[in-house]
Amino acid sequence: MAEQGQDGRQHGRVALVGAGPGDPDLLTVKALRLIQSAQVVVYDRLVSREIMELIPASAERIYAGKALGHHHLVQDEINELLLTLARSGRDVVRLKGGDSFVFGRGSEEALHLARHGIHFEVVPGISAAAGCTSYGGIPLTHRGLATGVQFVPGHLREGKGLDLRWDKLADPDTTLVIYMGLQSLPETSAELIKAGLPCDTPAAAIENGTTPRQRRVIGTLADLPERTRAAGLQAPTLIVIGKVVSLAGELDWFMTEGGGS
Ligand SMILES: C[S@@+](CC[C@H](N)C(=O)[O-])C[C@H]1O[C@@H](n2cnc3c(N)ncnc32)[C@H](O)[C@@H]1O
Repeated sequence: MAEQGQDGRQHGRVALVGAGPGDPDLLTVKALRLIQSAQVVVYDRLVSREIMELIPASAERIYAGKALGHHHLVQDEINELLLTLARSGRDVVRLKGGDSFVFGRGSEEALHLARHGIHFEVVPGISAAAGCTSYGGIPLTHRGLATGVQFVPGHLREGKGLDLRWDKLADPDTTLVIYMGLQSLPETSAELIKAGLPCDTPAAAIENGTTPRQRRVIGTLADLPERTRAAGLQAPTLIVIGKVVSLAGELDWFMTEGGGS
């Protein structure tokens, strides 16, 4: 469906669509409708294969994924690509894992379109923090255990390590959710303990959350790095630290292919 942009030109419809953490049943109705009517889908590495199968055969698929250290397209190229596709008059879905506006750089793409007069819409997705914890049997808040949640990125900046305010994060009454935090987990654990969070604070890592391949490792702040290493967890993995993780045994409802957590 063609739209008129602020530049006065006709262009295709652009939707930044969050695909959720993996289970296709977690797509919103709007996301599914847009995916099924798209003419071009620009997708990331984290979009699950089950969701990729929902894209019509007639739609062009363009991979813009990023694996750590192996950028397929750099962000500026993705921004330009979206602009060019929109101007070509086709309906474009920019499909990203989780929610586009949570550690997804969706806002950078939206800003680029906005600054070039291209109308777009944003379709929220279930972010890994919500999806992986629900399927991992871990409430983000629970009366008496956590009154709030903090979401932080855990990836190491090239040669610089983590740059986080550990004093703010080491709060025993708040759940800490760390995206992209598997590699840096030993450093994170040491910093949080140094900042005063008790060593025995319950902690979990959830790999491939919400999919049949989900694996969950439960431990403490002190031993989670070693447990995840021993289990051979890989990305994508979400780290959750806080007293709410103590409920994970009782709330373990999700049956995976392996039959357990
Ligand atoms: C670049 S961030 C993208 C986050 C995404 N926009 C969201 O809202 O979930 C990628 C990180 O999200 C987390 N993640 C995303 N999907 C996941 C999944 N299915 N299982 C575990 N972690 C996931 C991992 O920590 C991964 O390294």
